[in-house]
Amino acid sequence: MVMRAAVYPGSFDPVTNGHLDVIERALKIFDKIIVAVGDNPGKKPLFSTQERIEMLKESTKGMKNVEVDSFLGLLLDYVKKKNSKVIIRGLRAVSDFDFEFQRALLNRVADGDIETVFIMTKENYVYLNSSIVKEIAMFHGRVNGLVPKIVEEKLREKFGE
Ligand code: PNS
Repeated sequence: MVMRAAVYPGSFDPVTNGHLDVIERALKIFDKIIVAVGDNPGKKPLFSTQERIEMLKESTKGMKNVEVDSFLGLLLDYVKKKNSKVIIRGLRAVSDFDFEFQRALLNRVADGDIETVFIMTKENYVYLNSSIVKEIAMFHGRVNGLVPKIVEEKLREKFGE
C-alpha cells in the first residue's frame, strides 16, 4: 500500500487550536502528516524552533500518524527530502488568499509534481492566528480556548501572569 504523507509547514509561533484543527482534518485525507516548523523571513519568532517543536509535540501527542520536525531553507526541498508530494496550508479568510495563492503558484512553477492542498479551518477559529494570541498574552489577556494548555503555560512563562 502506498503511504501518503503530507507536509504541513508553518511558523507555529506558537501553535494554536486552529492549527490543530487543520492537522486533524488533514489526517482524514492523508496517512501521515509531517508538521514542519520553518522560518518565515518576514517574521521574527517569539519562540525558538526547539520551543515551537516541543509545544507541537505535546499538543499532538494524542494524534496518531503525526510527525513533528523542522526545516531550514526552501520548503520544496524539504518536501522532496521527505518523499512527499503534498503541502497542506490552512485557509481562514479571504485575507489569507493573496499570500497563499502566490506561494502555491510559485511552488508549482518550481515543481509541478508537488501540490498545495488548502484546508478550511473550523468556523470558530477563522479569527485566530499566532500573532493575535501573542498580542493578547503580552498584555496579560486570556488565551484559554485559543491555544493548547502547554502554549498557555509557555506564554505565561514569557510574559508573566
Ligand atoms: O505560518 P507561516 O508564517 O505562514 O509559514 C510560512 C512558511 C514558513 C511556510 C514559509 O515562509 C516558507 O515556506 N518558508 C521557507 C522558504 C520558502 O520555501 N519560501 C517559499 C517561496 S515560494
